[in-house]
Amino acid sequence: MTEPNAHVVEIERDGPVALISFDNPPVNAASQALRQGLDTAIRQLADDDAIEVIALYGKGRSFIAGADIREFGKPPRAPGLTEVCNTVETCAKPVISVLHGVALGGGLEVALATHARVAVDGVSLGFPEVTLGIIPGAGGTQRAPRLTGIADALDLITTGRRIGAKEAHELGLVDRVETEGTPRELALTAARDVLSGALPTRRTREIEVAADDAALEAARARIAKRQPHLFSPLKAVDAVAASRRPYAEGEATERALFAECIDSPQRAGLVHAFFAERAVGKIPEVHAHPRAVHSIGVIGGGTMGSGIATAALLAGLDVTLAERDQEALDRGTATIAKNLEGAVKRGKIDDARRDAILSKALTATTDLEAFATCDLVIEAVFEDMEVKKDLFAQLDRICRDGAVLATNTSYLDVNEIAAVTRRPGDVLGLHFFSPAHVMRLLEVVVGEKTAPEVVATGFALARKLGKVAVRAGVCDGFIGNRILAHYKKAADYLMLDGASPQQIDRAMENFGFAMGPFAVSDLAGLDIGWAARKRLAPTRPEAERYNPVADRICERGWFGRKTGKGFYVYDGEGPRPNPEVDAIIDAARAEAGITPREFSEQEIVERYMTAMISEAARVLEDGIALRPIDIDAVFLFGYGFPRHHGGPMHYADTLGAHAILNRIQEYAKEDNHFWRIPQLLEELAAQDGTFAQMNRET
Ligand code: CAA
Repeated sequence: MTEPNAHVVEIERDGPVALISFDNPPVNAASQALRQGLDTAIRQLADDDAIEVIALYGKGRSFIAGADIREFGKPPRAPGLTEVCNTVETCAKPVISVLHGVALGGGLEVALATHARVAVDGVSLGFPEVTLGIIPGAGGTQRAPRLTGIADALDLITTGRRIGAKEAHELGLVDRVETEGTPRELALTAARDVLSGALPTRRTREIEVAADDAALEAARARIAKRQPHLFSPLKAVDAVAASRRPYAEGEATERALFAECIDSPQRAGLVHAFFAERAVGKIPEVHAHPRAVHSIGVIGGGTMGSGIATAALLAGLDVTLAERDQEALDRGTATIAKNLEGAVKRGKIDDARRDAILSKALTATTDLEAFATCDLVIEAVFEDMEVKKDLFAQLDRICRDGAVLATNTSYLDVNEIAAVTRRPGDVLGLHFFSPAHVMRLLEVVVGEKTAPEVVATGFALARKLGKVAVRAGVCDGFIGNRILAHYKKAADYLMLDGASPQQIDRAMENFGFAMGPFAVSDLAGLDIGWAARKRLAPTRPEAERYNPVADRICERGWFGRKTGKGFYVYDGEGPRPNPEVDAIIDAARAEAGITPREFSEQEIVERYMTAMISEAARVLEDGIALRPIDIDAVFLFGYGFPRHHGGPMHYADTLGAHAILNRIQEYAKEDNHFWRIPQLLEELAAQDGTFAQMNRET
C-alpha cells in the first residue's frame, strides 16, 4: 500500500487514537494529492490493530474548502471524492471530523461521510456548488437530507448559503459545537469521547429520509422564480429527491446529474467568474506598499457620496463628509442614516453599532479644512471638470503630505484633474457604482503620474470595503461606461430599425441580465444619459447614426422611475410600456426614413453582445484594461452581467473570434461607421486564438 502523501496528509498516533491532518495551503482544497492521501491513510489505519478511532482535522486556515476548482474541466484523476468519502464512511472503525475555518462543498461532503462532526465556533459550512454551476457530487445530496431532512438540505444545496456552527448544530448537520481549543486538541478530545461513549457515532447512509414532496415542489418553484436561467439548481433538486431511494441508487443518480452539470457551459462560465474575482487583484503594482488608511474624507452627500461614506463606515473607517451648505449636509447624513438602517434590517450590524457609527465615526462638515488630517479623500460631486479642478486645487492646499486624493468621476480625465495639484502622483480615480454601499465593483483609475503605492492603496481600500477592484486606464468612461456607451448605441439602433424597447429588454433579460437596457436607463434616470449626450454632441462624428427617442422623452420631463414615466410607466402596479413612447419612436423612424423591420430575439442578443465585445476588444487594444478577465470582472460586479456566461470576454470565447468577426462584417454592410472591426479581434481570428489565452499570457 502506498504511503499517504506526506506533504498534504499526515497521520499522527496517540495510543488508540489516530489523527489525520490536511495541509494543502492556502485553503486545503481537496486536490488529487489530498484525496489520495486521505484514502490511503484511512485504509492503512483500518488495518492497524492498535488504532480504535480516527479523527480528521485541517491544519492552517480551514478543514477543507472543497474540490480543487482548478481541476474542473480537466480529465478526472483517481481517486474521486465520492470514492474517498465512501472509504471514510464504510471504515469499520469510527471516523470523526473537526471542522474549523471553512468546510465547503467537497469539504463538507467529507465531513458528512465521517461518523460524527465537531464544529469549531466561527466555521463556515455550506454547499457553494450551484454558484459554480454544479451540484454536490460526492454524496452531499444524499447525506445532507439524511441529517437535516429534505427541506433544509434543499435550502442549503440550491442556494449555496453558508451557515455557522450554531445553525449547523440546530439543523443536525454537526453533533457538537466547541468554542475553545485548536482543531488538533479538539480532535484528540472528541476521539477520546468516542472511546468513552460520550460522543456517539453513526453512518449517515444508514439514516432514513422522510418523504417531503411539498419541499421538493416548493424548491422547484423558488428556483423558477429566483434562478430561472440556471441549470444546476434544478438538477440539485432531482438529486436530493433521489435520497429517498436506497443509498447506492441515490448516489448513482447524483453522479449522473453531476456529470451533466460539469459538462455544461454554465459551469465553465461560473468557474471563470469565480477566478475573475480573484485574478483582478494581480496588478503590476502588486508589490508596492499601500499607504495606511484609517480615516477618509468624502466630498458630496448625494446618492453616490453617501453610499461611499456608508461603505467606509461599515468597514470600520472614520469618515468626514463635506457638503456646500448645511441643508445639503443634512440630506447627506440622513441618507447615510437610512443606509445604515438598511444594514441593521439585513442583520449586517446591530442598533448599538449603528448608533456608535453615527455618533463617533461620522463627522459632517461644511468646511473642507476638516480634511487636513484625512488619509484619503474622495470627491463625489457632480460631473463638471471646472468644479472638480477647483476642489482638487483646494485639497492640494489643505490635505497633509502623503494623503491620497481620489475622484469618483465616471468618465472625466483623471490626468487633467491631477494636473491642478502639486502632487499628481497622489491622485487617482476611484469609480464606485451606485448604490456604492451595495455594488461590489470599484474601478481604480490609474493616471499617467499615479504612484504605484497609491494604486496599491486603492486596491487595499477596496479589499477593506469588501469590493472587487479592477485596474483601469484613463479614457472617456474608463472600462465599463465606455463599453456601455457603445452597446447602448446598438440597442438604440435596434429600436430605430424596428425592435421595441420592451422587446430588447425582454431579449436581454432572457439572456440572463436582471434588467434590460431601457429598464436600467429608467432606473438610473434618463437625465443622466441626456446630459452625457449633450456633452458629447459637439464631438459626435457626422457619419454616426443618432437615435433621438431618449432625448424626446426627456424633453417631456420624463426621466424614468423617479418621475413616474420613461420608457415605462411606473404607477404603483409594476412597470408597463409607456404607450406615448411608441408615438415618439414612430416619429423618429419616419423622420429618418426608416421602414421598421422585425427582429428575432436571437438577432437582438447577437447585435447587442457583438457591440459589447467589439468595444471591449478596443478597450484592450488601447491598454485601458490589463486583461480580458478584468473586463469580465467589471461587467460581472458592476453591470449585472449574467454570471453563468462568465463575462463578455469569456462569452466571446464561447462564440469564437471568427464568428464574431463574421457578424461584424455582416452588420457593417448597413453601417460601416458603427460596426468597425477591432484589430485585436482580427488578429485573434487569424491565429485561432482566444481571450482566455491572453489572460494566461499577461
Ligand atoms: N480550489 C482551488 N483554489 C481555491 C479554492 C478551491 N476550492 N478555494 C480558494 N482557492 C484559491 C483562490 O483562487 C485563491 O488563489 P490565489 O491566491 O492564487 O488567487 C486562494 O485559494 C485564496 O482564496 P481567497 O482569496 O478566496 O481567500 P479567502 O480567505 O478570501 O476565502 C474561501 C477562502 C472561503 C475558501 C474562498 O476561497 C472560497 O469560497 N473558495 C471556494 C470554495 C468552494 O466553492 N468550494 C466548493 C468547490 S466545489 C466542490 O467542492 C464540489 C465537489 O466536491 C464535487
